[in-house]
Amino acid sequence: MNKDFVSIADYSKQDIETIFDLTAELKEKTQRGEAHHLCKGQTMSMIFAKPSARTRISFETGMYQLGGYALYLSPNDIGIGTREAVSDVARVISRYNDIIMARLFDHEHILELAEYATVPVINGLTDYNHPCQIMADIFTVKEHRGHLQDIKITYIGDGNNVANSWINLAGKLPMHLVICSPSGYEPDEQTLKRSRQTGISEIEITGDPKAAVHNADVVYTDVWASMGQEKEAAQRKKVFMPYQVNRDLMSHARSDAYVMHCLPAHRGEEITDDVLDGPQSIVFDEAENRMHVQKAIIVQLMQKA
Ligand code: CP
Ligand code: NVA
Repeated sequence: MNKDFVSIADYSKQDIETIFDLTAELKEKTQRGEAHHLCKGQTMSMIFAKPSARTRISFETGMYQLGGYALYLSPNDIGIGTREAVSDVARVISRYNDIIMARLFDHEHILELAEYATVPVINGLTDYNHPCQIMADIFTVKEHRGHLQDIKITYIGDGNNVANSWINLAGKLPMHLVICSPSGYEPDEQTLKRSRQTGISEIEITGDPKAAVHNADVVYTDVWASMGQEKEAAQRKKVFMPYQVNRDLMSHARSDAYVMHCLPAHRGEEITDDVLDGPQSIVFDEAENRMHVQKAIIVQLMQKA
């Protein structure tokens, strides 16, 4: 397994399955209230250049449950890449902590952090990807559906960090992945090319939401303007409105299709209340699984370190 967890593209199918086995074990132990202090006395710095609820809470709580300690460093604290060079931050934190988790703007910065840190680095979201999220998402689908055979996953909306991570996953686990975005908002081309070249999954890009959700087992969406794109929000809203996940669109998917969203949701924009709160929605299960999956990732990386 790689020293760091920066992209699903760096992991093998076997690595992903190992993480999922451990996730299931740790989730059961957590639910039974059984101690599992696999990182006793170890510490993690969590660097946030952007806001967060789930990522902070799940990593901080998860590290505590593993018997370790996590420090929250807010967007005002380190000034990574501005107040101090990324490479210096990496080397300094490596002298204090056993592992680093970072949520940054520039993907190059997390790569540099991982390169210079002597301890493992976990990517808690960059402008390019959000690997912990998609690991939790596919684990959640497997829990609900029982298996991942012959699965069609449709992502509707912005070709953003979450979409890129789905494409990276499709380069590892077989699926029919459909990304449905308006023209000019498609996902990263290189990522698409690399995952398609593996021949593992069928990856379709389309601009037609109704055709995209036809026969889908999972309909997934995310915000139209990501963190850092707030100024574009009004203009994006106009472009993306036909891509809203609402009851009408869901009537074109399988009647038992799951609805997913990484959250936070902009209710009434990319998804309507009735769909988000409806019986097909598994959004809170995916939010919960962030913690279980990330604990497994931490333990795996610490065992290697
Ligand atoms: N899904 C997710 O990463 O949520 P936060 O931005 O609240 O951490
Ligand atoms: N695409 C969103 C995901 C938030 C978890 C963003 O980057 O803001």
